[in-house]
Amino acid sequence: MIERIEQLRAQAQQEIAAAVTSDAVEQLRVRYLGRKAELPQMLRGVAALEPQQRGEVGRAANEARRALEQLIGQRAAELDAQALEQRLLADTADVTLPGTPPQPVGRMHVINATMRELEDIFLGLGFTVLEGQEVETVHYNFDALNHGPTHPARAHTDSFYVREPAGHATKQTIDVKAGHDSMRLGAPTDLVLRTHTSPMQVRAMQAHPPPLYVVIPGRVYRPDSDATHTPQFHQVEGLAVDEDITLADLKGTLLAFAKTVFGDERDVRLRPHFFPFTEPSVEVDVSCFHCSGKGFQADGSRCPLCKGEGWLEVLGAGEVDPNVYSYVPTTERNAPGYDPEKVQGYAWGMGVERIAMLKHGIPDLRLYFENDLRFLEQFG
Ligand code: DAH
Repeated sequence: MIERIEQLRAQAQQEIAAAVTSDAVEQLRVRYLGRKAELPQMLRGVAALEPQQRGEVGRAANEARRALEQLIGQRAAELDAQALEQRLLADTADVTLPGTPPQPVGRMHVINATMRELEDIFLGLGFTVLEGQEVETVHYNFDALNHGPTHPARAHTDSFYVREPAGHATKQTIDVKAGHDSMRLGAPTDLVLRTHTSPMQVRAMQAHPPPLYVVIPGRVYRPDSDATHTPQFHQVEGLAVDEDITLADLKGTLLAFAKTVFGDERDVRLRPHFFPFTEPSVEVDVSCFHCSGKGFQADGSRCPLCKGEGWLEVLGAGEVDPNVYSYVPTTERNAPGYDPEKVQGYAWGMGVERIAMLKHGIPDLRLYFENDLRFLEQFG
């Protein structure tokens, strides 16, 4: 009997190893371990054996059954895995095929396309592209850019401040808005949705020693909404810090930008202005590409784009105020750091929506964000 058990076990082992489908394995399970199979029947018959045989036969049959169960389970799992692998291999989809029916390829949004164009221009001039965080600390957004404590941009009506989630706040504040039910708001934080990309100036200097040539594209936020303002818009910041950087370098860089974006015949001019973090500060105009800077059209009428000025205002800029360098912590990495006695720099901030508006003659800024394909499909 023991011999028969060993024989069955060996035979089943061989057949299980040779099975190539899970159906075949299932058939073997029925054949060797099913209700009417020989081995289970032997097990059932153990009680009828001579007492001295029972132990030995019972043990051998049990062991054989357990071994076969394990082998069958293993083989079935192996075959299932193989089948899955094959199905996955056979099931590959070529995502580059045009589809049925073929769909037209999409296009980049005009804002992203403009931002990429600007990045390319400045990359070509030797700048590196950096990105920053949209939720910024009041320190980097205002303090480190020389905004005095009463600067109007700090007002809660002019910037989006971030509050802690209600309930999680350590200090709970209750705001009662006129005409609204009282609203439960979390405690104010020192975080703000960045109102410009300029906070990256100090962050970039903190991360990299001079000389530094970077542009920072990105989203910025202010609570304004009309035909020329949306609560979210985009800027490209520029910052160059080196040993002897002058306004002439700024003008040359921006002239290269103006010619690439608005045409080779363009000129730029700098007008005195004020920003807290540049000294001197300028507003930069590009000669009008609609009337070639003349201010009037061929028929003698006033140019509708520049309103007869001959110039279009495109951005704010200036020489980095030496005081801004004092906000750059001197670390081992940027030692001796940004010493205002040793380095000079220029910076600018340009509005991407405004540049695209001028370039494409777009009348209302809100069109960018309405997702109307009839508008979007005209670009790119
Ligand atoms: N951050 C300014 C704004 O949003 C724009 C700006 C002006 C950026 C002058 C600069 C700069 O880097 O030098 O209005």
